[in-house]
Amino acid sequence: MKLLTIIGARPQFIKAAAVSRAFSKIKSINEIIVHTGQHFDKNMSEIFFTEMDIPKPSYNLNINSLNHGAMTGRMLEGIEEIVLKEKADMLMVYGDTNSTIAGALAAKKLHVPVAHVEAGLRSFNMRMPEEVNRILTDRISDLLFCPTDKAIENLTKEGFSYFPSKIVKSGDVMQDAALYYSQKSEKFSNIIATLSLSDFILCTIHRAENTDTKERLNEIINAINEINSIKTVVIPLHPRTRKLISDYGFTLQAKVIDPVGYFDMIELLKKCALVITDSGGLQKEAFFFEKHCVTLRDETEWVELTEGGFNKLAGANCNVIVQSVNEMLKKTSNFSVNLYGGGKSSEIIAEEIANDKAD
Ligand code: UD1
Ligand code: UDP
Repeated sequence: MKLLTIIGARPQFIKAAAVSRAFSKIKSINEIIVHTGQHFDKNMSEIFFTEMDIPKPSYNLNINSLNHGAMTGRMLEGIEEIVLKEKADMLMVYGDTNSTIAGALAAKKLHVPVAHVEAGLRSFNMRMPEEVNRILTDRISDLLFCPTDKAIENLTKEGFSYFPSKIVKSGDVMQDAALYYSQKSEKFSNIIATLSLSDFILCTIHRAENTDTKERLNEIINAINEINSIKTVVIPLHPRTRKLISDYGFTLQAKVIDPVGYFDMIELLKKCALVITDSGGLQKEAFFFEKHCVTLRDETEWVELTEGGFNKLAGANCNVIVQSVNEMLKKTSNFSVNLYGGGKSSEIIAEEIANDKAD
């Protein structure tokens, strides 16, 4: 079976690294990787391919830095050409980015079955581009790999039991990646020594809902500056956020560094006292590395983490963020609960694809 995998943004490289490894063990699957080019800086893209042994993409469309319509439209056109040329049997997409919806739509219109990894997640906030992307991608996917019970429940409520798609509970492929690469990260990363870190908080900020609203970003930065005066906050800063902080004329008082590769990220996760983030992936990785998390959003798709007390939503209010950080720094929790499948998701996905009869 010829399988086209569409990836383009940082979290998709990490997810695809885990699943591609499982595909490589199945002879009947011939995976062809297409990079849309959505992320393109060396440390937002190339570093993951070299560090994590992800197969080199056969295509790179180099489509990035555009408005949503232009970006998605050009990707759609580029992916369609490749699906036709390669005569793909199936196309696989990950997550909820513009690369995800472009890939799914291109294949579906050509009657090529679509597999969606990370299906069924919902924030119920339709102002998020990711929510639009994931709802539409799920609806046109033939194989829906759900990371959690909640994801399956969301699809069921939306009527998916009446649709001719197949829902599979796979667990979360990010846990597979975290477990596998955490065995290697210490050997390949020097970040803790290079930055002379001992007691620190790890923070990432990149969501459009935070960066594109001046008031929200201002509140978040005020909170980080206050927290940093008590405990060092390390921020591998996404280029989107770096640009907007500069455009708005804000000052961020923290240990701001360029985005890092996955080995550095894992070492930061292992050694930090707490995670502050608006990232989807980081919320789960905090849990995998037994760290509490304060999430700079008003809602989360990963509700089992907030329900279990591992994660606290703080929105974008300075006082609430500072209070939440103080509270979570003092908290102890038992992280041994299995919420995401325990690292077997990639195998489940690869076997399902190999045996698939989807049409
Ligand atoms: C995208 C995803 C988001 C995901 C995030 C992961 C969508 C709608 N959003 O957001 O769901 O959480 O990726 O990181 O698909 N830029 C660079 N260098 C890069 C990458 C981006 O300078 O390597 C700049 C772009 O030029 C652009 C901005 O950052 O102006 C935003 O990039 P874009 O890919 O549109 O969205 P993200 O914020 O990265
Ligand atoms: N990540 C990384 N380096 C960084 C920031 C993030 O390797 O500088 C990893 C992070 O550990 C996680 C993934 O990128 O595995 C999450 O991506 P991101 O936060 O960009 O996107 P989201 O998960 O919100 O879609």
